[in-house]
Amino acid sequence: MPNLHILPSQKQLVDKVVDFIREQSQAAIKERGRFNLVLSGGATPRPIYENLTKLSTEQAPDWKKTYLFWGDERCVPPDHPDSNYRMAEESLITHIPIPPTHVFRMKGESEAQAAAQAYEQDLRRYFASASPHFDVVLLGMGDDGHTASLFPGTDAIHRKDRWIVANEVPSKSTWRLTMTAPLINQAHKIAFIITGEKKAETLYEVLHGTPQPQHLPAQLIAATDWFLDEAAAAKLP
Ligand code: 6PG
Repeated sequence: MPNLHILPSQKQLVDKVVDFIREQSQAAIKERGRFNLVLSGGATPRPIYENLTKLSTEQAPDWKKTYLFWGDERCVPPDHPDSNYRMAEESLITHIPIPPTHVFRMKGESEAQAAAQAYEQDLRRYFASASPHFDVVLLGMGDDGHTASLFPGTDAIHRKDRWIVANEVPSKSTWRLTMTAPLINQAHKIAFIITGEKKAETLYEVLHGTPQPQHLPAQLIAATDWFLDEAAAAKLP
């Protein structure tokens, strides 16, 4: 059973997730000498990334042994307001001593299919064609039940043959790059971070409703941890 962490406020949720990342980084680096962290996009994670930069050197992850990846990206340039990379760069990357070669950016500015293939090649090279090992994958969820860029009714939710795919998202009139569910599910820890009452009904359906991943792609994910504020958890039993 996944761990449910329900926090009274968004601030307490942010602090809890920062502690979780910190603990997981220490364990990973102690065990294998590095910490492979997959960042989520959207708005929810921003204060988490910002708070990571406020930790003391003793408390912070060892950024020189940390490697950053993305679960998904919008097909826009890295300086575009919608770019998940730009959000992470502004809130985290420019404020920490992480070597640039440790930051694996999805190239949203490139043609989508080529960018997806290139990122998958980057990952296969990084994992030396062994099975991929992410220590932590951070995920958000939309009120339509999407996660990463696995949107209801889109092709990417069916893909089991690839780690990274380009996904056409008609509801957003755009293309996205996304990790597939099989790749995400290989991670050691998979943590959803969900806040706000708007998502409470969908969260109930994802956790307790009929299995229907075509309509609720978050159900594809074998999450180990759910970090929720009380508003998002309001409909849970
Ligand atoms: C993205 C994210 C997406 C996000 C959810 C929730 O690229 O937008 O990867 O899956 O996590 O849409 O977004 P909010 O945190 O903004 O509600």
